[in-house]
Amino acid sequence: MTTTDHDPAAPPASRPIRTFHPRRGRMSGRQTDALDRLWPAYGLDVPDGPVDLADLFGRRAPVVLEIGSGMGDSTAAMAAADPDRDYLAVEVHTPGIANLLDLVDRGGLSNVRVAQGDALDLVSGLPEGVLDAVHIFFPDPWPKSRHHKRRIIQPSHVALLRSRLTPGGTLHCATDWAEYAEAMRHTLDADPGLVDAYGGFAPRPAHRPVTKFERRALTAGRPVADLIYRRR
Ligand SMILES: C[S@@+](CC[C@H](N)C(=O)[O-])C[C@H]1O[C@@H](n2cnc3c(N)ncnc32)[C@H](O)[C@@H]1O
Repeated sequence: MTTTDHDPAAPPASRPIRTFHPRRGRMSGRQTDALDRLWPAYGLDVPDGPVDLADLFGRRAPVVLEIGSGMGDSTAAMAAADPDRDYLAVEVHTPGIANLLDLVDRGGLSNVRVAQGDALDLVSGLPEGVLDAVHIFFPDPWPKSRHHKRRIIQPSHVALLRSRLTPGGTLHCATDWAEYAEAMRHTLDADPGLVDAYGGFAPRPAHRPVTKFERRALTAGRPVADLIYRRR
Protein backbone atom coordinates (compact mmCIF):
# COMPACT_ATOMS: atom_id res chain seq x y z
CA MET A 1 0.00 0.00 0.00
CA THR A 2 1.39 3.44 -0.84
CA THR A 3 1.08 6.37 1.53
CA THR A 4 -1.67 7.82 -0.66
CA ASP A 5 -3.93 4.77 -0.35
CA HIS A 6 -6.95 5.16 1.94
CA ASP A 7 -6.96 2.87 4.98
CA PRO A 8 -10.63 2.36 5.93
CA ALA A 9 -9.68 1.29 9.48
CA ALA A 10 -7.76 4.47 10.24
CA PRO A 11 -9.60 7.24 12.11
CA PRO A 12 -10.01 10.48 10.17
CA ALA A 13 -6.85 12.56 10.52
CA SER A 14 -8.92 15.43 11.90
CA ARG A 15 -10.36 13.45 14.85
CA PRO A 16 -8.20 14.13 17.91
CA ILE A 17 -7.59 11.55 20.61
CA ARG A 18 -9.78 12.71 23.50
CA THR A 19 -8.78 12.49 27.15
CA PHE A 20 -12.33 11.98 28.42
CA HIS A 21 -15.00 9.26 28.37
CA PRO A 22 -18.17 10.22 26.52
CA ARG A 23 -20.89 9.74 29.14
CA ARG A 24 -24.41 10.80 29.88
CA GLY A 25 -25.70 11.76 33.25
CA ARG A 26 -28.97 12.68 34.82
CA MET A 27 -29.42 16.11 36.28
CA SER A 28 -31.33 16.92 39.41
CA GLY A 29 -34.01 19.61 39.30
CA ARG A 30 -31.67 21.89 41.17
CA GLN A 31 -28.89 21.36 38.61
CA THR A 32 -31.26 21.94 35.67
CA ASP A 33 -32.45 25.15 37.24
CA ALA A 34 -28.88 26.30 37.94
CA LEU A 35 -27.85 25.61 34.35
CA ASP A 36 -30.82 27.53 32.92
CA ARG A 37 -30.41 30.52 35.20
CA LEU A 38 -26.64 30.84 35.51
CA TRP A 39 -25.11 29.60 32.26
CA PRO A 40 -25.65 32.96 30.47
CA ALA A 41 -23.70 34.83 33.18
CA TYR A 42 -21.02 32.30 34.16
CA GLY A 43 -20.74 29.77 31.33
CA LEU A 44 -18.95 29.65 28.06
CA ASP A 45 -18.74 27.05 25.34
CA VAL A 46 -15.11 26.36 24.54
CA PRO A 47 -14.61 28.61 21.53
CA ASP A 48 -12.66 27.80 18.38
CA GLY A 49 -10.66 30.96 18.78
CA PRO A 50 -8.97 33.11 21.40
CA VAL A 51 -10.25 33.64 24.95
CA ASP A 52 -9.82 37.03 26.65
CA LEU A 53 -9.60 36.31 30.39
CA ALA A 54 -9.95 39.93 31.55
CA ASP A 55 -13.10 40.23 29.46
CA LEU A 56 -14.43 36.92 30.79
CA PHE A 57 -13.99 37.85 34.47
CA GLY A 58 -14.52 41.60 34.13
CA ARG A 59 -11.23 42.35 35.90
CA ARG A 60 -7.51 41.67 35.70
CA ALA A 61 -6.56 39.19 38.43
CA PRO A 62 -4.38 36.05 38.50
CA VAL A 63 -6.27 33.16 36.91
CA VAL A 64 -6.35 29.52 38.01
CA LEU A 65 -7.51 26.98 35.41
CA GLU A 66 -9.03 23.76 36.74
CA ILE A 67 -9.13 21.03 34.12
CA GLY A 68 -11.76 18.34 34.57
CA SER A 69 -13.58 20.00 37.45
CA GLY A 70 -16.01 17.08 37.86
CA MET A 71 -18.84 18.11 40.18
CA GLY A 72 -17.03 21.35 40.94
CA ASP A 73 -16.47 20.86 44.68
CA SER A 74 -12.76 21.72 44.54
CA THR A 75 -13.27 24.72 42.27
CA ALA A 76 -16.02 26.22 44.41
CA ALA A 77 -14.19 25.67 47.72
CA MET A 78 -10.85 26.96 46.44
CA ALA A 79 -12.42 29.99 44.75
CA ALA A 80 -14.34 30.86 47.93
CA ALA A 81 -11.11 30.72 49.96
CA ASP A 82 -9.13 32.71 47.39
CA PRO A 83 -11.20 35.72 46.26
CA ASP A 84 -8.23 37.64 44.83
CA ARG A 85 -7.74 35.06 42.08
CA ASP A 86 -10.17 34.08 39.35
CA TYR A 87 -11.04 30.40 38.74
CA LEU A 88 -11.87 29.05 35.30
CA ALA A 89 -13.18 25.48 35.43
CA VAL A 90 -13.40 23.40 32.28
CA GLU A 91 -15.38 20.18 32.03
CA VAL A 92 -17.27 18.22 29.40
CA HIS A 93 -19.83 16.61 31.68
CA THR A 94 -23.03 18.69 31.82
CA PRO A 95 -24.33 17.59 35.27
CA GLY A 96 -20.94 18.50 36.78
CA ILE A 97 -21.05 21.92 35.16
CA ALA A 98 -24.59 22.46 36.41
CA ASN A 99 -23.57 21.38 39.91
CA LEU A 100 -20.69 23.86 39.93
CA LEU A 101 -23.01 26.65 38.76
CA ASP A 102 -25.29 25.80 41.67
CA LEU A 103 -22.34 25.93 44.11
CA VAL A 104 -21.26 29.28 42.62
CA ASP A 105 -24.75 30.64 43.13
CA ARG A 106 -25.12 29.34 46.67
CA GLY A 107 -21.66 30.62 47.60
CA GLY A 108 -22.18 34.01 45.93
CA LEU A 109 -18.88 33.51 44.08
CA SER A 110 -18.06 36.19 41.53
CA ASN A 111 -14.58 34.80 40.71
CA VAL A 112 -15.65 31.58 38.95
CA ARG A 113 -16.43 30.91 35.29
CA VAL A 114 -17.26 27.52 33.81
CA ALA A 115 -16.32 26.38 30.33
CA GLN A 116 -17.84 23.37 28.61
CA GLY A 117 -15.72 21.47 26.12
CA ASP A 118 -12.26 20.05 25.69
CA ALA A 119 -9.77 21.76 28.00
CA LEU A 120 -7.01 21.30 25.43
CA ASP A 121 -8.96 23.34 22.90
CA LEU A 122 -9.61 26.02 25.52
CA VAL A 123 -5.93 26.21 26.48
CA SER A 124 -4.90 26.41 22.82
CA GLY A 125 -7.02 29.57 22.55
CA LEU A 126 -5.30 31.29 25.48
CA PRO A 127 -2.30 33.57 24.96
CA GLU A 128 1.02 32.37 26.36
CA GLY A 129 1.92 33.16 29.97
CA VAL A 130 -1.52 34.13 31.31
CA LEU A 131 -2.30 31.46 33.93
CA ASP A 132 -1.20 31.68 37.53
CA ALA A 133 -1.91 27.99 38.07
CA VAL A 134 -3.33 24.91 36.38
CA HIS A 135 -5.05 22.32 38.57
CA ILE A 136 -5.66 18.77 37.36
CA PHE A 137 -7.15 16.75 40.19
CA PHE A 138 -7.84 13.03 39.72
CA PRO A 139 -7.64 12.99 35.92
CA ASP A 140 -8.99 9.84 34.28
CA PRO A 141 -6.13 7.33 34.71
CA TRP A 142 -6.80 5.36 31.51
CA PRO A 143 -5.13 2.30 33.10
CA LYS A 144 -4.86 0.06 30.00
CA SER A 145 -1.58 0.51 28.11
CA ARG A 146 -3.38 0.93 24.82
CA HIS A 147 -5.28 3.87 26.33
CA HIS A 148 -2.27 5.72 27.75
CA LYS A 149 -2.36 7.96 24.69
CA ARG A 150 -5.61 9.38 26.14
CA ARG A 151 -3.98 10.58 29.34
CA ILE A 152 -4.00 14.31 29.86
CA ILE A 153 -0.50 14.25 31.35
CA GLN A 154 1.71 13.45 28.39
CA PRO A 155 4.58 15.46 26.91
CA SER A 156 2.75 17.45 24.21
CA HIS A 157 -0.12 18.41 26.55
CA VAL A 158 2.31 19.37 29.32
CA ALA A 159 4.26 21.59 26.92
CA LEU A 160 1.01 23.31 25.92
CA LEU A 161 -0.11 23.82 29.53
CA ARG A 162 3.33 25.04 30.63
CA SER A 163 3.42 27.62 27.82
CA ARG A 164 0.22 29.22 29.18
CA LEU A 165 1.59 29.53 32.74
CA THR A 166 3.25 32.73 33.88
CA PRO A 167 6.92 32.31 34.84
CA GLY A 168 6.74 30.87 38.37
CA GLY A 169 3.15 29.71 37.79
CA THR A 170 2.26 26.23 39.07
CA LEU A 171 0.98 23.04 37.53
CA HIS A 172 -0.63 21.00 40.32
CA CYS A 173 -1.78 17.43 39.65
CA ALA A 174 -3.20 14.88 42.06
CA THR A 175 -3.90 11.22 41.44
CA ASP A 176 -4.68 8.05 43.37
CA TRP A 177 -3.37 5.82 40.57
CA ALA A 178 0.18 4.87 41.60
CA GLU A 179 1.42 3.95 38.13
CA TYR A 180 -0.01 7.18 36.66
CA ALA A 181 1.63 9.16 39.49
CA GLU A 182 5.02 7.74 38.50
CA ALA A 183 4.33 8.36 34.81
CA MET A 184 3.27 11.93 35.59
CA ARG A 185 6.45 12.51 37.53
CA HIS A 186 8.55 11.15 34.71
CA THR A 187 6.75 13.33 32.13
CA LEU A 188 6.83 16.50 34.25
CA ASP A 189 10.50 15.99 35.18
CA ALA A 190 11.33 15.65 31.48
CA ASP A 191 9.75 18.98 30.51
CA PRO A 192 12.63 21.46 30.21
CA GLY A 193 10.44 24.43 31.16
CA LEU A 194 9.22 23.03 34.49
CA VAL A 195 10.89 22.61 37.85
CA ASP A 196 9.63 20.30 40.58
CA ALA A 197 8.66 22.59 43.46
CA TYR A 198 9.26 19.87 46.07
CA GLY A 199 11.96 17.68 44.55
CA GLY A 200 9.59 14.72 44.55
CA PHE A 201 5.94 14.19 45.37
CA ALA A 202 4.52 17.18 47.22
CA PRO A 203 3.04 16.99 50.70
CA ARG A 204 -0.75 17.06 50.48
CA PRO A 205 -1.66 20.76 50.40
CA ALA A 206 -4.36 21.68 52.92
CA HIS A 207 -5.94 24.02 50.36
CA ARG A 208 -6.88 21.13 48.03
CA PRO A 209 -10.34 20.02 49.19
CA VAL A 210 -11.12 16.32 49.63
CA THR A 211 -13.49 15.24 46.85
CA LYS A 212 -15.49 12.08 46.25
CA PHE A 213 -12.58 10.65 44.24
CA GLU A 214 -10.13 11.12 47.07
CA ARG A 215 -12.51 9.71 49.71
CA ARG A 216 -13.14 6.67 47.51
CA ALA A 217 -9.41 6.16 46.95
CA LEU A 218 -8.58 6.42 50.63
CA THR A 219 -11.37 3.99 51.54
CA ALA A 220 -9.94 1.54 48.98
CA GLY A 221 -6.45 1.97 50.46
CA ARG A 222 -4.99 3.89 47.50
CA PRO A 223 -2.79 6.75 48.67
CA VAL A 224 -3.03 10.05 46.82
CA ALA A 225 0.01 11.69 45.23
CA ASP A 226 0.27 15.45 44.67
CA LEU A 227 2.70 16.79 42.08
CA ILE A 228 3.44 20.53 42.04
CA TYR A 229 5.73 21.97 39.38
CA ARG A 230 6.62 25.59 38.56
CA ARG A 231 7.26 27.14 35.21
CA ARG A 232 10.86 28.35 35.00
C1 LIG B 1 -12.01 11.34 37.30
S1 LIG B 1 -12.84 12.84 37.07
C2 LIG B 1 -12.24 13.89 38.39
C3 LIG B 1 -13.13 15.07 38.67
C4 LIG B 1 -12.62 16.09 39.71
N1 LIG B 1 -11.38 16.70 39.32
C5 LIG B 1 -12.51 15.53 41.11
O1 LIG B 1 -11.40 15.46 41.64
O2 LIG B 1 -13.56 15.15 41.68
C6 LIG B 1 -12.00 13.51 35.65
C7 LIG B 1 -12.84 14.55 34.94
O3 LIG B 1 -12.06 15.16 33.90
C8 LIG B 1 -12.92 15.46 32.82
N2 LIG B 1 -12.06 15.61 31.63
C9 LIG B 1 -11.19 14.71 31.13
N3 LIG B 1 -10.55 15.21 30.07
C10 LIG B 1 -11.04 16.47 29.87
C11 LIG B 1 -10.79 17.48 28.92
N4 LIG B 1 -9.89 17.30 27.93
N5 LIG B 1 -11.47 18.63 29.00
C12 LIG B 1 -12.38 18.80 29.99
N6 LIG B 1 -12.66 17.89 30.93
C13 LIG B 1 -12.01 16.73 30.87
C14 LIG B 1 -13.88 14.28 32.77
O4 LIG B 1 -15.07 14.60 32.12
C15 LIG B 1 -14.08 13.99 34.26
O5 LIG B 1 -15.22 14.65 34.77
